[in-house]
Amino acid sequence: MEKMTRRTFLKASAIMAAIFTTGFLQKFSFKSIIETAEAKAIQIKEKTMEIKFIERSFFQRLFGTPATPKAETTDSWTYAGGKLSIDLAKAPQLKKPGGALRFEGGDLPERVLVIYGNDKTYRAFKNRCTHIGHRRLDPVPGTHTVQCCSVNKSTYDVDGNKIYGPAPKPITPYPAELKGDRLVVKIF
Ligand code: FES
Repeated sequence: MEKMTRRTFLKASAIMAAIFTTGFLQKFSFKSIIETAEAKAIQIKEKTMEIKFIERSFFQRLFGTPATPKAETTDSWTYAGGKLSIDLAKAPQLKKPGGALRFEGGDLPERVLVIYGNDKTYRAFKNRCTHIGHRRLDPVPGTHTVQCCSVNKSTYDVDGNKIYGPAPKPITPYPAELKGDRLVVKIF
């Protein structure tokens, strides 16, 4: 066999180095480092946060029937200019800590879940689980979490981050502000 020249040897070494470096960088790219760190943070959260499941029957979960009632009349709320404005005098469920109501229909572009936590803070979310069935959500009593009403029970913290279940992404929290006797939720 013909002897390898110095030039050929250097060329082959350079190609090998390039292949190795590309593979290494692909494997340890910043994106993968960030993704690994995020996955670790979620694992830690799953371990440290208490996950409780709302008691629902099998059929309620199968058909995706939420535990949270729907605001019965549209005269308790209006929607205009990207803002859902709720008359709290006509929404008694939102005056009791631990209460919740869902708003949907009419001109509302999204289903909205509003909760009044035990910490007496109003929070609102797009009422749409990010898992494939996009079912509605309920607050889980005694926790700072909301949970999908489906069989898979994806659960999110009050910042919207998924902490349990198959949902691939966080849910969308909406800013909620108390203005006199009305709660104004900005929808986007
Ligand atoms: S729709 Fe499947 S977990 Fe929410």
